[in-house]
Amino acid sequence: MPTQSVSQGEATLSLDGKTLTLPVVRGSEGEHAINIEKLRGQSGFITLDPGYGSTGSCRSAITFIDGDRGILRYRGYPIDELAEKATFLEVAWLLIYGELPTQAQLEEFRGAVTRHTLLHENFRRFFEAFPKDAHPMAVCASSVAALTTFYQAPETEANVGESVIRLIAKIPTIAAYAYKHSIGQPAMYPQNDLDYASNFLHMMFATPCEEYRPDPELARTLDMLLILHADHEQNCSTSTVRMVGSSRANLYASISAGISALWGPLHGGANQEVIEMLERIEAEEGSAEKFLARAKDRNETTRLMGFGHRVYKNYDPRAAILKKHCEAVIRRVGMSSRLLEIAMKLEEIALHDDYFVSRKLYPNVDFYSGVIYKALGIPVNMFTVMFTMGRLPGWIAQWLEMRRDPDFKISRPRQIYTGPPQRAYVPVSQRA
Ligand code: CMC
Repeated sequence: MPTQSVSQGEATLSLDGKTLTLPVVRGSEGEHAINIEKLRGQSGFITLDPGYGSTGSCRSAITFIDGDRGILRYRGYPIDELAEKATFLEVAWLLIYGELPTQAQLEEFRGAVTRHTLLHENFRRFFEAFPKDAHPMAVCASSVAALTTFYQAPETEANVGESVIRLIAKIPTIAAYAYKHSIGQPAMYPQNDLDYASNFLHMMFATPCEEYRPDPELARTLDMLLILHADHEQNCSTSTVRMVGSSRANLYASISAGISALWGPLHGGANQEVIEMLERIEAEEGSAEKFLARAKDRNETTRLMGFGHRVYKNYDPRAAILKKHCEAVIRRVGMSSRLLEIAMKLEEIALHDDYFVSRKLYPNVDFYSGVIYKALGIPVNMFTVMFTMGRLPGWIAQWLEMRRDPDFKISRPRQIYTGPPQRAYVPVSQRA
């Protein structure tokens, strides 16, 4: 799909008594940017933007977010419509190939993914080498990197599609193996007559001695969660995938790097932190008010996890969808609703508290996803792995878009050096 951005207008910049003219670029939803590609060549200046809050790194036709209005669309389709009506594999196709699949395309895609879910038997030995208490995100990142050792053919435009299918097919198997290894149970083989989410639940919860029949309603909820996580434009892990891929590293290596980036508590790791925060409040019988007071205190490192976002300055539309589903899932599995009650109380107070209101801090996708994962029986340290499974098609789509971009270049930011100026080497015997 062509990327629609047009040069429209100019910006002028006065620097050291010189006036520079820089082109203005506009996207298809009216966002605008000053193109500074030639700035350094023309003036010797670079721009400085730690955290990249005002920097666009690429043109992209995949995902649109309007953080002020709480809008998220994949390839133009609103997230709430996709979450309600589509399946995860349909959304994966949409993100990767640009359009919703026809029935025939979807069947073929589903068939290809289903036929590639098995891992090479030698992978079992690979898992055995990990300590039992290894974090499943570390296991996933290493395993995805290790796939390159099994599929060594250099990637070309003609065969990259095979890597795409393998990754989407094998990530649930890898994730479930990581879990089974951590609890000392034998890994379960994938079951090809199950849909994507049900097969994952089967690999997680079946044992060789006991069949497990995934509840279709819970499997559908999991499928929807994966859709909500499927892409989110140029966030930390996606930018990592693009950055690594820009060196022409292969898709497996790039995705493995993305998984590592997602693991951090300020990014995908926040869903684990949210549930741990809710459980702490419950265990300490602490009040939501007391916890929020700590989250606001500059002398404390505590933050209200699952709140705030670099882009959304309004309610994250994914959080709104998840909140709606929480109660139904809890009721279905008969779990206590105490954690959900604490979460809702925290939200209610925060949304009326000047600290959160003035900073435009609202619930993000991680605030309610943990409650649902918990109700589905997913262990807490697997929460970020669930995010990984969902985000995979987005990473792949972004990687392919970057590699096919006619303006493709290796990513290589500059810096402002603040270290010492040149100095002479002092032999160790003469150093004080
Ligand atoms: N609790 C308390 N204060 C907060 C929070 C929070 N969750 N988030 C931001 N603030 C305050 C922050 O202290 C700062 O205050 P001040 O202006 O007085 O210094 C102000 O709000 C701006 O915060 P920031 O850290 O400069 O904002 P950012 O855009 O760099 O960070 C964020 C965004 C998501 C890292 C941050 O909001 C945060 O740490 N949230 C908690 C972690 C979390 O839920 N992460 C998941 C993000 S959504 C899933 C994903 O896409 O990864």
